[in-house]
Amino acid sequence: MSDSKTSNTMWGGRFEGGPAKVMEKINASIGYDQRFYAQDIQGSVAHATMLADRGILTREDLDRIVEGLNTILREIEGGGFDFRPDLEDIHMNVENRLRELIGDAAGRLHTARSRNDQVATDFRLWIRDTIDRIDGMLFDLQKALLGQAEAHADSVMPGFTHLQVAQPVTFGHHMMAYVEMAGRDRDRFADTRRRLNECPLGSAALAGTSFPIDREQTAKALGFDRPTANSLDAVSDRDFALDFLHAANVCAMHLSRLAEELVIWSSAQFGFVKLSDAFSTGSSIMPQKRNPDAAELVKAKIGRVLGAYVAFTTVMKGLPMAYGKDMQEDKEAVFDAADTIELAITASTGMIADLMPDTDALRNAASQGFATATDFADWLVQNLDMPFRDAHHATGAAVKLAETKGCDLGDLPLAELQKIVPELTEAVFDALTVEKAVHGRNSYGGTAPDQVRAQIARWKEKLA
Ligand code: ARG
Repeated sequence: MSDSKTSNTMWGGRFEGGPAKVMEKINASIGYDQRFYAQDIQGSVAHATMLADRGILTREDLDRIVEGLNTILREIEGGGFDFRPDLEDIHMNVENRLRELIGDAAGRLHTARSRNDQVATDFRLWIRDTIDRIDGMLFDLQKALLGQAEAHADSVMPGFTHLQVAQPVTFGHHMMAYVEMAGRDRDRFADTRRRLNECPLGSAALAGTSFPIDREQTAKALGFDRPTANSLDAVSDRDFALDFLHAANVCAMHLSRLAEELVIWSSAQFGFVKLSDAFSTGSSIMPQKRNPDAAELVKAKIGRVLGAYVAFTTVMKGLPMAYGKDMQEDKEAVFDAADTIELAITASTGMIADLMPDTDALRNAASQGFATATDFADWLVQNLDMPFRDAHHATGAAVKLAETKGCDLGDLPLAELQKIVPELTEAVFDALTVEKAVHGRNSYGGTAPDQVRAQIARWKEKLA
């Protein structure tokens, strides 16, 4: 069933025939692993330099190898590199081209190395670079949220639980909640980075190598904290990829919540915010429409990230040590999740930076739905020394009365309220304004503008 006469030049010494077309197709990863060409070349330069320093490679060969690798880097970046599926992956494509460029010395580069430690190294480097980029994007998102929080530290809006009006909060407080979430997302990525930052290079195929290599040197040259301590683990572990996918997942989940709020808030029924033209779309039939497509897509895209996590966990589950080709499936899952999360973060930042909250609509909504009922109850406790449970009950009766009269709590005549609580005085009405309610919640981390401003200041310092 062989479709090609010649066996692979890299590993085909013991083969007579070449692979079937479909074998080549299922086996090749070059279609996607070319994404870490830069990391592959970076790793090869570090490896070759170490080999020369240890006397395993001559200086002349090293110079030729490094020059050749730099040429390849330029070729790939200039778009002039011919990626060949018959050479399977980025590692063999680069090495094959190196041989074309510099001849026999190219064959010495793979001394004391295997594609198994090579790919594990490349992939760690790629994820590390990606994490650094994502961290910058989340930083920008936090800045955009902080900008809105600062502008709206005093803008009162209804806070919800169960999506039912609960108590008044401020728009700034609401934005700062997402600053906290993005902060933890950054921590999760940083934590992933810290754990993955060990260098597999030198673990070779699975058992280490008999060559007198210096693993500290390559680890250091590539910015790793240290070499990995077990060669079997180093070539077969991909938990750093799962860590990354987990961090991406939680981040995507946070973004999806923000996005859903934007969808709800920008509806005609809520009218809390307006998304800029830059982040809205029209309808081809209904001229009045301003659809929040970007927010909807941010919300929807978590499916891909979660899918990547599930797919790749399934690949790794039950896999015997050490390396197995199954693990080649790590890349597409991670690449797609990374692209998705980067897009989702950037779109979220754009929407938030441009967002136009309607402060009148927010305040109006905050004065509906008996948002200050808790404040009424608290007043009874604080001024009449009523046990909170009794105050809760009395307030419930007042709400019911207001409901039947079709008015708000603060619009009920004092005499009517005194039928429920005879000791009530005029002063209670003061406690029922949304401003009073918001300013009163001055506990640490609460919604009072002073508290929100303190958190804004803390974050500004942190992000400076
Ligand atoms: N393309 C392979 C991968 O991504 C590289 C490692 C191949 N190793 C091997 N022993 N066939 O996993």
